[in-house]
Amino acid sequence: KQQKLKPLIDINESAAKLYHHVLVNTELGEEALNYLKKRKISDEMIETFNLGYAPNERILKKYFEEKKVNYQDLRKTGLFTETNDGSLKDRFAGRLMVPIRNESGKTVGFSGRLLHKDDDMPKYLNTPETELFNKRKIIYNFDLAKPEIRQKHDVILFEGFMDVISAYQAGVKNGVASMGTSLTEEQIYDLKRVTKQIYVCYDGDTPGQKATNRAVDLLQKDSNLKIGIIQMPDGIDPDEYRRNNGETSFQQVVENGRESIVKFKINYLRSQFNLTNEEDKLDYIDKVLHIIATVDNPVERDVYLTELADNLDVSLGSLETQTEKYVNVTR
Ligand code: CTP
Ligand code: MN
Ligand code: MN
Ligand code: MN
Ligand code: MN
Repeated sequence: KQQKLKPLIDINESAAKLYHHVLVNTELGEEALNYLKKRKISDEMIETFNLGYAPNERILKKYFEEKKVNYQDLRKTGLFTETNDGSLKDRFAGRLMVPIRNESGKTVGFSGRLLHKDDDMPKYLNTPETELFNKRKIIYNFDLAKPEIRQKHDVILFEGFMDVISAYQAGVKNGVASMGTSLTEEQIYDLKRVTKQIYVCYDGDTPGQKATNRAVDLLQKDSNLKIGIIQMPDGIDPDEYRRNNGETSFQQVVENGRESIVKFKINYLRSQFNLTNEEDKLDYIDKVLHIIATVDNPVERDVYLTELADNLDVSLGSLETQTEKYVNVTR
């Protein structure tokens, strides 16, 4: 199987090289390069992540046809779309190209980002599923992050690869991302071989928080994992945070912004209820007390309960009494 995939890997690797060359050394890449400058992505990161630009619909096709690369192999890479007459067009024309590497550091696919907002086209386009590229299985940046994860004994899970690159630039190199899909069991399985401590650092907007909740639920199914949250400010994603506040501040958030999943759940659930409605409020409190009851440490329970009592204007005593009931039920 490995042997059969070799030509497809070679094509992907050559494509990455060509896209990178266009971005860094040619006039065709100027606009994309300016785009990266605007996003404060350094030259070093452009090299480390081998970022590139796909300038038009024919550059790849021409390049590989001149080298007489097998047509069927070209088709199988997913780098092209086919026109009605069977000829190939570069799929990613006009996009900033992020090569996606497998665990051994080989390029197996791409994600391409539009330089300008366009309502008719998706912001990101990925290589379609191929023999080489399985979105559910791939973990972006796992190859580079692995030694860092081993050294720090934890991994940080970001939502997008621009967040991973941004964090890396700020010196936070143990970051990975899933491929624009929600986290999968396969990815958790692979991460688990390297560390049991996983931090989720998704976007601070509504979809990001929802995705965090989903990821936490999935991770919690595995009782061997230790899970934490790195909370971003409202509406901000990690890359924006670094760009707005600088690299030192980013490092600090990553170190000091770590919170427990109980705290996350308490805050997340709050956004799901209308607390000015009494019935909703009681519902919310009941849900939260069930969660707090699962915490072993009584001091930790006390911290959450005190905060809850303050925030919701109810007595600490009643919250404690009710939680004790749930504690007894749970254990
Ligand atoms: N995504 C995608 N297709 C889209 C939008 C998003 O595949 N049309 C995936 C990408 O993998 C992206 C992730 O979902 O990295 C998170 O989406 P979003 O937060 O919108 O993108 P960012 O990573 O913040 O990208 P950027 O900063 O470039 O806008
Ligand atoms: Mn280079
Ligand atoms: Mn997002
Ligand atoms: Mn984002
Ligand atoms: Mn972003």
